[in-house]
Amino acid sequence: MLHHVSYAGRTFAALMLAAGLAACTADKDAISGPAGGLDDPTFANASAALQTSCASCHGASSGRLFRTSMDSTTLVASGLVDPASPSASQLLVKPRSAAHGGGVIAAFSTRDSALVAAWIATLPNVSATTVNAVKTDFAPSIDGVGEAIWLQATPLTVQIAGGWAAAASVSVRAMYDDGYLYMLLRWTDNEASYRRNPWIKNVDGTWSVAAAKPAPTNGQNWQQYMAARGGLSFNPEAPEYMYEDKMAIIWNTYGAGTVPAFETVGCAAVCHDPNAGGGPGTTYNSVQRDQAAKKYTTVVGQVLDMWHWKLVRQNMNGKMHDQYVRYWLPINDGTAGDGGRASDAGAVGYASNPAVSGRPTFRSATNGMLPAIYSWPTTDTLRMTDVEVAALPVGTVIANMLTSMPTGSGADVDGRGVYDSVLRRWTYEIRRRLTTSDVNDVQFDNLTRTYKFGLAVFDNAQIEHSYSGPPVRLVFKP
Ligand code: HEC
Repeated sequence: MLHHVSYAGRTFAALMLAAGLAACTADKDAISGPAGGLDDPTFANASAALQTSCASCHGASSGRLFRTSMDSTTLVASGLVDPASPSASQLLVKPRSAAHGGGVIAAFSTRDSALVAAWIATLPNVSATTVNAVKTDFAPSIDGVGEAIWLQATPLTVQIAGGWAAAASVSVRAMYDDGYLYMLLRWTDNEASYRRNPWIKNVDGTWSVAAAKPAPTNGQNWQQYMAARGGLSFNPEAPEYMYEDKMAIIWNTYGAGTVPAFETVGCAAVCHDPNAGGGPGTTYNSVQRDQAAKKYTTVVGQVLDMWHWKLVRQNMNGKMHDQYVRYWLPINDGTAGDGGRASDAGAVGYASNPAVSGRPTFRSATNGMLPAIYSWPTTDTLRMTDVEVAALPVGTVIANMLTSMPTGSGADVDGRGVYDSVLRRWTYEIRRRLTTSDVNDVQFDNLTRTYKFGLAVFDNAQIEHSYSGPPVRLVFKP
């Protein structure tokens, strides 16, 4: 199968190269044109307007999706501009909105935004944020391999930013048949992270569970926290924090619980940071958990569908955790870590290796202490005796996760990922029935509708994920 994978990679690279060349030409024209106001809606002029009003927060080094250093191609690929309806572009809508993390940007004058809108209107009227699902006669196997059958589907590169991840984009392909929607996602990662809070034997013979994450307190996100303590780069990944790679997709639901704001701003509609006045943001607070950013809808009854892949807990069973985001009223009780995140019905299929007298209870019966992927099936579990545990050498690592097949509507989404340690990337395949019986699920029951979604990559970073900006569109091609 490897040659198929690399062939797909070459096609993809060639497409990106072509897009890059086209942009170069366009930018050269722009620079040679007359400098001026609205009569000259070239990228150079639009870019100058953005530099003036936005660079203080969106400069080259900002961890945000929108950076004033972006060239025209990157801006288009980011989905921040909407050539199909220029005035709906996030580049124009965001800085004028109260939900903008930087507030309403008065310096971005009406004239500035008219110039930027006029430039967007010069772009080819194609949507850079649409994944076209092609109809397929052959179903892909959901094994994380990415067979040649996927070459019939054109990938969309979805830009991601913020949070803590090595990848800056995710490539997304989609196909469907009479029964299912299929998706193939690829993103780079310098290392697969399997060690999810394992048990470790200390020098003094006691046991600890390894920390998942650094512990910023109020007003910091991980990037700021890591920078302040002298910095840790992604490559190699922060070694003292042990967690698993994850990925998540959020869909609008389009039924009774549809979230209108998601249609224009995507996941930012349900991302609320108390440190950003309840607007989107990424503050993490390990002490006062109610001061951390959370997901929830702000209107009773509104729900989004959330498909959440957790490598150590779910990959062996070929499932994503089918969850949803619901209404939640921010309460400052210091504990409510989950906000509006909730799970569909059924067994989740994972549980910790519980503590007994401060040490792990179980080991794998067949693989001993250290299963390669840091979890093992509940059916393969052996209770350890005190004598056996006492004899284990200092530094022994025992996995902290027991898994079983999830059940119920929480198991509606099939998915499996494979990490390629040569190309250093994840390939993840997804399958879900076009329709389900769960009211909190998106129903692909109207194949002429545009379905909007957002996605996030978690790179050994627990909840501090990188995210896509404006909603990505899924369209079913007849
Ligand atoms: C005072 C700081 C500040 C200024 C100035 C500012 N922004 Fe932002 N912007 C933010 C923050 C913080 C976020 C992240 C939270 C959010 O999505 O609202 C953000 C998010 C955005 C987003 C969503 C995608 C992303 O990058 O996360 C867009 C688009 C955006 N800003 C556009 C602009 C434009 C265009 C301007 C200039 C006209 C501008 N902003 C000026 C602070 C600022």
